[in-house]
Amino acid sequence: MSARILEGAAVAAAIRERVAGQVRELSALGMTPRLEVILVGDDPASRSYVGSKGKACQQVGIRSATHFLPAETGADELSGLIGRLNADPDVDGILLQLPLPKPLDGRTFLDLVDPSKDVDGLHPVNVGLLHQGRPVFVPCTPAGVIELLDSAGVALQGCRAVVLGRSEIVGKPMAALLLARHATVTVCHSRTRGLAAVCSEADVLVAAAGKAALVTADHVKPGAVVIDVGVNRVEDPALVARLYPGDPERQAQLAKRGYTLVGDVDFTRAREVAGAITPVPGGVGPLTIAGLLQNTVTAARRRRGV
Ligand code: GUN
Repeated sequence: MSARILEGAAVAAAIRERVAGQVRELSALGMTPRLEVILVGDDPASRSYVGSKGKACQQVGIRSATHFLPAETGADELSGLIGRLNADPDVDGILLQLPLPKPLDGRTFLDLVDPSKDVDGLHPVNVGLLHQGRPVFVPCTPAGVIELLDSAGVALQGCRAVVLGRSEIVGKPMAALLLARHATVTVCHSRTRGLAAVCSEADVLVAAAGKAALVTADHVKPGAVVIDVGVNRVEDPALVARLYPGDPERQAQLAKRGYTLVGDVDFTRAREVAGAITPVPGGVGPLTIAGLLQNTVTAARRRRGV
């Protein structure tokens, strides 16, 4: 039997609508939220993400600007910019797009962002608050996954949840959020022994390992909910043909763009075992930006005492 497909677009649209209403309320008070995005270097994927974030802000009425800095930007220059944005009372949110080009270290600069403007939820203060169960800013993707699970009516309390991946931006906060919802949580990673066996115990499996189609049918418990956070560019025609047999759309995309986006889950096989599953693209993706918009409004409300 084929799984129910969980698409994020409708949930993301509902969040955006809610946020747009909150922005209107703030604007009526002369407090339109303002987000400043920093992009260092010219990574095409980051450029595309940053463009989408700016557009989404515009659509809900949030003021936003992007600071495009060259890849050779020095540490002093970047920390100076973050310091100026921290000090500007009209700025509500600061987002430093990751990854930073070498030799800049993301952690060093995330630590400089004023926690009250940390709309990515990556400052140690916000990470600590999340892990203590009193979140203020939650990283956007895992927050979106929880919204998606809730909207699909997935019962988290007491369930076995497995998070595959231990990144600061997805895996670790995802585990904290699931734990806060009373799931029994296991975090796996590249060095986990017997990965398929551990994953196949999950009622809810969240794949965020950054490896195309790592999760196959034998990682999935029959009827499980599978959430695929992975976004991997696959250029190998043989791999695309194996992952999407008889799918002319994927072949056409590969021919046109030179790559196709593949999640961490082998969707074609896993959907035959899972009870519900997110596609890539179109699953979790739309929720990430919706989470950023929500965090920006939260920052504006808190900072402006609304
Ligand atoms: N790079 C990829 N995803 C993200 C994100 O959610 N936030 C930031 N700051 N950088 C990213």
